[in-house]
Amino acid sequence: MTTMSSAGGTLAIRARVLTYHAHPLVEGAQGSHRYVEDGLVVVRDGVIEAVGEAVDLLADLDPAMPVADHRPHLLMSGFIDPHLHMPQSQVIGSFGTELMEWLSKYTFPEESRYGDPAVSDAAARFLMAELLRNGTTTAVAFCTSHPQSATSFFTEADRLGLRMVGGKVMMDRNAPDALLDTPERGYDESKDLIRRWHGNRRLSYAISPRFAPTSTEAQLEATQALAAEYPSLHIQTHLSENAQEIAFVAELFPWAEDYTAVYERYGLVRPKALFGHCIHLSERERGALADAQATAVFCPTSNLFLGSGLFDRDAALAAGLRTGIATDIGGGTSYSMLTTAAEGYKVLALRGQKLRGHAAFYMLTAGNADAIGFGDRIGQVAPGFEADFAILDTTATPAQRRRAERVETLEEELFVLMTTGDERNVAATYANGRRVHVRDVAGELPARLDQPAAAQGFAGGLQDGTAQER
Ligand code: GUN
Ligand code: ZN
Repeated sequence: MTTMSSAGGTLAIRARVLTYHAHPLVEGAQGSHRYVEDGLVVVRDGVIEAVGEAVDLLADLDPAMPVADHRPHLLMSGFIDPHLHMPQSQVIGSFGTELMEWLSKYTFPEESRYGDPAVSDAAARFLMAELLRNGTTTAVAFCTSHPQSATSFFTEADRLGLRMVGGKVMMDRNAPDALLDTPERGYDESKDLIRRWHGNRRLSYAISPRFAPTSTEAQLEATQALAAEYPSLHIQTHLSENAQEIAFVAELFPWAEDYTAVYERYGLVRPKALFGHCIHLSERERGALADAQATAVFCPTSNLFLGSGLFDRDAALAAGLRTGIATDIGGGTSYSMLTTAAEGYKVLALRGQKLRGHAAFYMLTAGNADAIGFGDRIGQVAPGFEADFAILDTTATPAQRRRAERVETLEEELFVLMTTGDERNVAATYANGRRVHVRDVAGELPARLDQPAAAQGFAGGLQDGTAQER
């Protein structure tokens, strides 16, 4: 097995470069992005050193620097998936039910297998490979309640040099015995994993109480203690996804004025606390989450598949509630953030809200980075940011090539890409400045990748623009 995690890569990448530094719904489409038609991104030791016009940057480039030429593809920041479940790759598409029945009938039995290292190692390897095939370079993941599952997750993320966030789920009631920990064990096992993994290279631990119905008040108290000991860690859980779930929470916590109040009571509503779904929130709840600088995570394919409801993005925006968009594999049905954005568009359309191309790609990159509190290091193609990229071929299929004949603007190109796109559009993926995925299509990505600048004729004599001919 190769080890790629040590040092970050050094290279330059030539492509159409697109990046976002602000929310298009706040700053407008033009004021929120930078687009360089013939761009170059220079990466040193896994960090972006320069971004600009290829013709300018190539003039000064070290002749020994490898240059990967991905023209005419788009280079964007690698996608970020702020909510998914590592152990649910074999649950996707389980038929015909709503959340609570889906959990007990399919999901909990499947998750019960993950104490076995062979099962969880295979799942972690599959997950990372599948994410990279889809251009996703960072995810925030629930593992199972078995510490082994988190060990498998972090080991594989580290091997690949990925920035990943994950945690062992804490759950001590309303599930099969094989999945239950106890308040003490949930605390101790989480703490061991934090000590072992958090802050190692690009890995972060997320304190992960599954959701209020599967934790006793004693466990929520233990979670509160852990969260207080580690105030800068992520917290991930679920909130207000489905009517039965909300009714069950009201039964289990009769003292709570609403679902959010349960998490507030135990000190779990704070910056970098990520709440999956948040569909049926009251104004009070949105306000409380926003005031605490917590994050709501919109999971459109899951919400449609499980019939959970339609996320209200505009209400979240109006409340000042930070929002991410995620796959929620395996309630969600696709690993593709392109498909996720397309389904997000449809959910919002049913609410009379709109998601345009620039706003969608902002959400998948800088928006999701901000939503998980990593807006200072990933999600933008700009100097100082980590070198995680998705290389996107916007005309990968015959249908897309035909459609492209009528496309006139970048906004249109992006909107068609998200509406019709999936992993076939991901020509390559880079993480930590290293190429970690290349699309397996005959004739694609020829040998000109990674040739030294000198061999490509980039060094010197650029005044006549010869570099652009490669
Ligand atoms: N709520 C608690 N656990 C889960 C889960 O695994 N998936 C979804 N969609 N919702 C949950
Ligand atoms: Zn979930």
